Amino acid sequence: MDALMRHFRQGDWIFHEGDEGECAYIVEQGEVAIVLERSDGHITLATYGQGTLFGEMAIIDQKPRSAGAIALKDCALRAITRAQLNHRLERADPILKICIQVILKHLRKTLTQIHSPEPSKVSVAPTVTNQANVDVIQPTAQQEESAAQTLGQAIDHSQPMMASDVFSEAIKTLHLEQELQIALTQNQLRLYYQPIVRLSDGLIVGFEALMRWIHPVKGMISPAVFIPIAERSGQIVEMTYWALREASSQLKKFQDIQKSYWGDQYAPLFMSVNFSGRDFLDGRFLDEIQNALQNHQLPPKSLKLEITESMLMLSPDEVQRVLGICQSYGASVAIDDFGTGYSSLSYLQSMPADTLKIDQSFVRTIHKNDRHLALVESILHLAHRLGMLTVAEGVETAEDVVTLRNLGCDLAQGYHYARPMPTDQVLAWMEKQTEQFPKI
Ligand code: C2E
Ligand code: CMP
Ligand code: CA
Ligand code: CA
Repeated sequence: MDALMRHFRQGDWIFHEGDEGECAYIVEQGEVAIVLERSDGHITLATYGQGTLFGEMAIIDQKPRSAGAIALKDCALRAITRAQLNHRLERADPILKICIQVILKHLRKTLTQIHSPEPSKVSVAPTVTNQANVDVIQPTAQQEESAAQTLGQAIDHSQPMMASDVFSEAIKTLHLEQELQIALTQNQLRLYYQPIVRLSDGLIVGFEALMRWIHPVKGMISPAVFIPIAERSGQIVEMTYWALREASSQLKKFQDIQKSYWGDQYAPLFMSVNFSGRDFLDGRFLDEIQNALQNHQLPPKSLKLEITESMLMLSPDEVQRVLGICQSYGASVAIDDFGTGYSSLSYLQSMPADTLKIDQSFVRTIHKNDRHLALVESILHLAHRLGMLTVAEGVETAEDVVTLRNLGCDLAQGYHYARPMPTDQVLAWMEKQTEQFPKI
């Protein structure tokens, strides 16, 4: 017995106009007429056949049924519960939610006009029909009253469409999204570079490129604010390509300086670039990676693609395929924020990744929390068994350095060594490294 299947005989009312809505329906079998109930008969607004959905309005805007529904044939309807719809709506983009509310408001208003006793008000005059051999039922006084209530609410323009804080947050996001578009064309984005060092002695081995938005009025805006907006709007794809080009061109310069200081003594510096889930689904992705490597004659291994666990889970097969190709070009792949996702272990062995970055939340509490210490130890062990290079993020103190070194972690990144910096400061920082690692 399927609890969410509802059966109606031909001529049955599924619901009446003005009723409280409990669920929406998908027609699995049969046919349904949507009717406005008037004292002189019904106005058929639409008929719905197999595979169509109706009864959604009252669920979404939480107002009474905007029209009645009658089974034109014997019907099997699948109910979609309020919880099922709401769960999806809650996760929808706030601007999209507002659009839905606006459309519903317009539709309800149009329905009140159709309902109006003066047919001249209706722009496309609907016909009063009884073509479906459905008995024309006179609405009861109670139905008429609740219908009137529907109409009253439909024209209540003063009613806010969303909680005002949600609304203003949505508008703010929309505004930032537009400003971000301007930022892209007016060169307001910058890359800062944070050194990544060898834990054993602090020698620089590479960088992570981190995006900054220098807003002409608001100043520096954190990537934690604008990256999620760009991911939602799709702007992230262009931003990633910009970062990839900029970072690979800069890497060449850093590698030249490295060579001028130390010759071929050390492996070429690498550059970690952050990627988002959407990037992998873009058709130009692989060409962009190849161009970044070729345009600057970079040793392929010196480009590291950083991807987070949650991103891997978006479309694991596609991401895995694309990453596999990147690795076949020689590029390196790092799993970022390791330990914060959900399915960490299952894909570790299947994902084409050679580097694992332990999330800062573990590193930060390594001394305060024995369990975190045990976790970091286990992650390092696991990664090394899988032949992966390990990077500890958020290394802030000399104490962290000693602990992580003793645990056998390979590389470190954090304020203890350097913050993310613009290029000129990076050059000064590299120069300072030569005090500890003399020039040849
Ligand atoms: P992430 O990829 O995990 O980058 C590391 C973040 O940790 C950076 O924050 C860095 O400044 C910060 N950090 C480094 N060392 C320390 C430390 O010792 N202590 C503390 N408290 N923080 C440290 P940032 O630059 O604000 O970036 C935040 C996030 O924004 C990044 O986290 C990344 O998810 C995203 N992001 C930044 N740039 C890009 C980009 O170009 N593309 C994409 N898709 N995401 C980016
Ligand atoms: P709801 O208001 O919950 O119940 C009546 C349903 O009829 C409504 O949701 C819509 O699914 C549908 N409906 C309302 N107005 C129209 C219309 N003008 N054309 C087609 N379907 C409609
Ligand atoms: Ca990162
Ligand atoms: Ca990280």
